[in-house]
Amino acid sequence: MTDFARRIIAWQRLDGRHDLPWQGTRDPYRVWLSEVMLQQTQVSSVIPYYQRFLTKFPNIEALAGAPVEEVMQLWAGLGYYARARNLHRTAQTVMERFDGVFPRTFEDVLSLPGVGRSTAAAICAFAYGDRRAILDGNVKRVFARYFALEGDVRAAAREEELWSLAESLIVDLREGGEIESYIQGQMDLGATVCTRSNPSCLLCPLKADCVAFISGRVDELPAARPRKETPHRDTAMLILLRGEEVLLERRPPTGIWGGLWSLPEIALDGDALALAKSRFGLSMRRGRRPEPMPVVEHGFTHYSLSIHPVLLRVSQTTQFVAQEAGEWMSIADALEAAIPAPIKRILTALSVSD
Ligand code: ADE
Repeated sequence: MTDFARRIIAWQRLDGRHDLPWQGTRDPYRVWLSEVMLQQTQVSSVIPYYQRFLTKFPNIEALAGAPVEEVMQLWAGLGYYARARNLHRTAQTVMERFDGVFPRTFEDVLSLPGVGRSTAAAICAFAYGDRRAILDGNVKRVFARYFALEGDVRAAAREEELWSLAESLIVDLREGGEIESYIQGQMDLGATVCTRSNPSCLLCPLKADCVAFISGRVDELPAARPRKETPHRDTAMLILLRGEEVLLERRPPTGIWGGLWSLPEIALDGDALALAKSRFGLSMRRGRRPEPMPVVEHGFTHYSLSIHPVLLRVSQTTQFVAQEAGEWMSIADALEAAIPAPIKRILTALSVSD
């Protein structure tokens, strides 16, 4: 065994995480669910979602049989919503193509929607004890430091080289025992010790032969990604408030927040009142003034978004001839519905200030 794997396994057994709710099971359904939830998402955010999900959908059959809206509602706030749609599709695929039994081979697991090479490997290692290498952002960072890999290890052109390295490190690990500790140890190390900034090198099991540590280059490695400006977008959203109710629209199935409920998006600096009239058939004799609300910032992977909410209060008796589909919901119901996190923040602020 390489020193790298040996040290990680010993460290994981002693100092790694052992009490996460998805540990201690070989149920591939639970393993798959947790690995999909953990894609680009921190453990602390995932835990409550994972537990609610399992209570509602204790097995793949329950998930496959649920309406997709219910799945989206339980996912709301966790982000990257394509994962939730893929989860539901996968459950149905397993029922139809695999007779309700979660697939056993790596190739079949990899064929599931939303499951890439590293996720498939983690599922097969945790559920079946298969000897498979993983390679995610955390593992790349650890490699970059331990082996002093120069350049941008996150570049697509480096993938094959890094996969070969990852696979060379597991060749003699025992299936059903060592491999799980190794995979979990890599995840734990990247998340808790070999962090991007302020890593805890003195606690690291790899410090004796980590090239970056020995040569004092931990802060330089991995090299910063070539700076790519993430674009910024501004958008305005209309909060039509009638008593305790707010008008929500369902987003189109594709694109950001696909299938979730959201506030109607309107033109920046547009006339909110005129828009409410033309788009939703609002008829008011005396118009109230639209009130600008505090801007809410939200970061997506590929751009950042500033939402400028505009509040328009209408009276209980205001008539609407809905020209576009929208749905009045009490703020309390809206907060429980499938809405994106920033919309939830806007509505929460509203319910507090009212
Ligand atoms: N990140 C991805 N998979 C994980 C797991 N099984 N435990 C902790 N963090 C993870």
